Amino acid sequence: MRLLTAAAIAASVMLASVVAQAEPIKIKFSHVVSENTPKGQMALKFKQLAEERLAGKVVVEVFPSSQLFSDGKVLEAMLLGDVQIAAPSLSKFKKYTKKLQVFDLPFLFKNMDAVAKFQSSADGQALLNSMSKKGLKGLGYLHNGLKQLSASRELRVPTDAAGLKFRIQASDVIAAQFEAVNALPLKKPFSEVFLLLQTKAIDGQENTWSNIYSKKFFEVQENITESNHGLIDYLVVTSAPFWDGLPADIRTTLEGSMKEAIAHGNKIASEKAISDRKRIADSGRSTILQLSADDRAKWVSAMKPVWDKFAGEIGQDLIDAAVASN
Ligand code: SIN
Repeated sequence: MRLLTAAAIAASVMLASVVAQAEPIKIKFSHVVSENTPKGQMALKFKQLAEERLAGKVVVEVFPSSQLFSDGKVLEAMLLGDVQIAAPSLSKFKKYTKKLQVFDLPFLFKNMDAVAKFQSSADGQALLNSMSKKGLKGLGYLHNGLKQLSASRELRVPTDAAGLKFRIQASDVIAAQFEAVNALPLKKPFSEVFLLLQTKAIDGQENTWSNIYSKKFFEVQENITESNHGLIDYLVVTSAPFWDGLPADIRTTLEGSMKEAIAHGNKIASEKAISDRKRIADSGRSTILQLSADDRAKWVSAMKPVWDKFAGEIGQDLIDAAVASN
């Protein structure tokens, strides 16, 4: 009897230690930018908060700079269970939903306040779930900022872009935007842009101040036009089956941590839009061209017809709602 009791105690101690040593849930967060960017800092903040609050239960591994997956591969990898969180630019979801193309329409948002207003509206929030049937779940939007044009030659008016090759993200709207000014858009992963510019395989690109600075594009592009013509923001995305399968208490804590991490990233985004622009200006490597109101109007009238081309796919109601946020 005594022997049996001892065996039972030993078994329960072993069981308890197995439960105590249960493997933590591993979350791989893959992204393509540097750590010193809004997205890089947001990912690290999420890791810090999630691991503090769920110590021993969750481990977050962050892979910056396309170390794990490039932007073209990460969503497929997520559906295969090889990565759990990513935050691709809103321009990179076309395979899964046409609706998010609204964010690529040129000259749609006047400033980042309008972007934030639209994203937090009922229409913006509904887009977070626009890919649930495809197995992807939006956890929130993260800002980077407005895009600037850079090139090997000065871009003052749309005809200056004619005949130049521009690297673009994998977006048909952005392709149409460059075709509208008779330029040649080339869809390439973010990880290849610096080399393409350095070797002059392409003539230009469009990006935010933070990406132009952190990936050193300004060192290989003599001219940057402060066009603010479009947006690079992110959808923080996860696999719906993975997220829905998490224990409810862990999921709730992760959602809270993500919300705080996004707020942290957004604060950095607005700071970097100013500080990285200044760093580029101070470097003397690129000249920053500010457009006169007349010249800007020329870019708007050349590129805005793109809206009509995509109104069917995106939905005129959604475009109207985005415009109303201005
Ligand atoms: C990113 O900010 O995640 C990349 C943007 C790009 O592909 O240009």
